[in-house]
Amino acid sequence: MARHLITSALPYINGIKHLGNMVGSMLPADVYARYLRQREHDVLYICATDEHGTPAELAAKEQGLPVDAFCAQAHDAQKAVYDGFALAFDYFGRSSSAENRDITQHFARRLNENGFIEERAIRQVYSPTDGRFLPDRYVEGTCPHCGYDKARGDQCENCTRVLDPTDLINPRSAISGSTDLEVRETKHLFLLQSKLQHEVEEWVARHEAHWPQLASSIARKWLTEGLHDRAITRDLDWGVPVPADTWPELAAEGKVFYVWFDAPIEYIGATKEWADQDPDSRDWKSWWYDADSGENPVRYTQFMAKDNVPFHTVMFPATELGVREPWKKVDYVKAFNWLTYYGGKFSTSQKRGVFTDQALDILPADYWRYFLIANAPESDDSSFTWEHFTATVNKDLADTLGNFVNRVLSFSRKRFGDDVPEGGVPGEAEAKLGEQIAELLAEYEAQMEALQFRKAAAALRALWSAGNSYLEEKAPWLEIKTDKDGAALTLRTAMNLIHLYAVVSEPLIPSSSAAMRQAFALADDTATWVTPEEARALTSVPAGTPFTVPPVLFAKLTDEDLATYKERFGGAPE
Ligand code: 2FM
Ligand code: ZN
Repeated sequence: MARHLITSALPYINGIKHLGNMVGSMLPADVYARYLRQREHDVLYICATDEHGTPAELAAKEQGLPVDAFCAQAHDAQKAVYDGFALAFDYFGRSSSAENRDITQHFARRLNENGFIEERAIRQVYSPTDGRFLPDRYVEGTCPHCGYDKARGDQCENCTRVLDPTDLINPRSAISGSTDLEVRETKHLFLLQSKLQHEVEEWVARHEAHWPQLASSIARKWLTEGLHDRAITRDLDWGVPVPADTWPELAAEGKVFYVWFDAPIEYIGATKEWADQDPDSRDWKSWWYDADSGENPVRYTQFMAKDNVPFHTVMFPATELGVREPWKKVDYVKAFNWLTYYGGKFSTSQKRGVFTDQALDILPADYWRYFLIANAPESDDSSFTWEHFTATVNKDLADTLGNFVNRVLSFSRKRFGDDVPEGGVPGEAEAKLGEQIAELLAEYEAQMEALQFRKAAAALRALWSAGNSYLEEKAPWLEIKTDKDGAALTLRTAMNLIHLYAVVSEPLIPSSSAAMRQAFALADDTATWVTPEEARALTSVPAGTPFTVPPVLFAKLTDEDLATYKERFGGAPE
């Protein structure tokens, strides 16, 4: 039994996420965690909302709420959607927790003691009306390049040029609208990443061979460009405060850490939040501190979209290395490309794409979970279209799996009653099927272990198809006319397949799997996974086991459904 620590990139607190966010981090992490739990490993899957930073402040302001109240509410709203998607986190925390504050401050103190933090004076826009320094994106004005009059101090949304707040013509505060702005000198803490460049390079070199190409190529690119010292504090009201015992002056000025400094530390913070809920039985430190040594070292896998890779392969490891304490570093970085909507970007402002709460309004989670994993943007971007979605649901879920389950159970009940029939002795067809199932199961396991989600879904689909081919070949509805025992054997074998599907499909479609499993009143159904011998024999559900026919597992989607979805969410971008 290995120890697996799994984290998925922490979703920003502002706003419900779209399907692209779901498939690029939390969903595959959940599938992997479920798989490993079923294989009886010791798994800890941690995630949290990323609550600090300017976007949280701005979103709270838009809703007219104090930022802490906004975050509490928005956290619950996101958590409800993730529950709806059946994401089985061991803990879903909040980066604004006291645990994260303490660990973040500890990291900063240690980095300082080790000579990796320096106070530097920089020039920044100050608004006397607001009584505060303004982060770059809180300064608005006219873009000097295209004349757009709502350009932000960090970037012009219209022409996408990167800006400095002092570039803006007629700058004003985004908070109060005041044009009374001045540039003042202010001190910030800088993390001296340049001093850690070599160590990070060495660390990446030791690990990248095992990472997917997408992750290692991004890490390499950043290292080649060189690690620059960067400001890790901000003038915001909301964030982890700079500790007063170490930097009294900056603390008195109300400086907080930059969101990207404290967010990855929240992976550790959330683990401590989890343990603090039940301190007698949970040991957070054993997952994070000195976790590579001992008899059962932790294997740590992170899930994220490609824009997050530099922070996880270079910046956060630099922080962890500079702390000079044995904090666990990532072993495997599973990075994803983008899911597009009809080849274009998911866009909140243009109301294009599907958000996770809307998805659950339309159909149960398993439809989405299966489709997204089967089409995960692993080697390249992949495109969501309603045509592809409805076709996949109909073919794979409704026809191949759902129909098989329903057909077998209904027919058997009609002809043999409410118990699994006995039938004759397994013959050549059953032996061939068992071999095939064992082989496909091995393929499925190998792909799961390699974190190749599309290929794992394809192997699962092949397992479902094998059942259909067997059924077509044996045709029990004809067989029954001449060989009742033969038909009973076919149905019992098919029912065993249904039970096997229930077990092995669980990582992708947990609630449909539960329905399939519950169809059989097995005296002792504790099977977590299927052994190769069980796959070959297909006898885990013995004759005489009472069963019920579950309601239709997957509804077939009609042309009318397709038209409604396209109408509601928009089709191809113009
Ligand atoms: O890109 C994002 O959504 C970030 N909130 C991810 C943070 S991951 C971690 F480091 F906290
Ligand atoms: Zn512009």
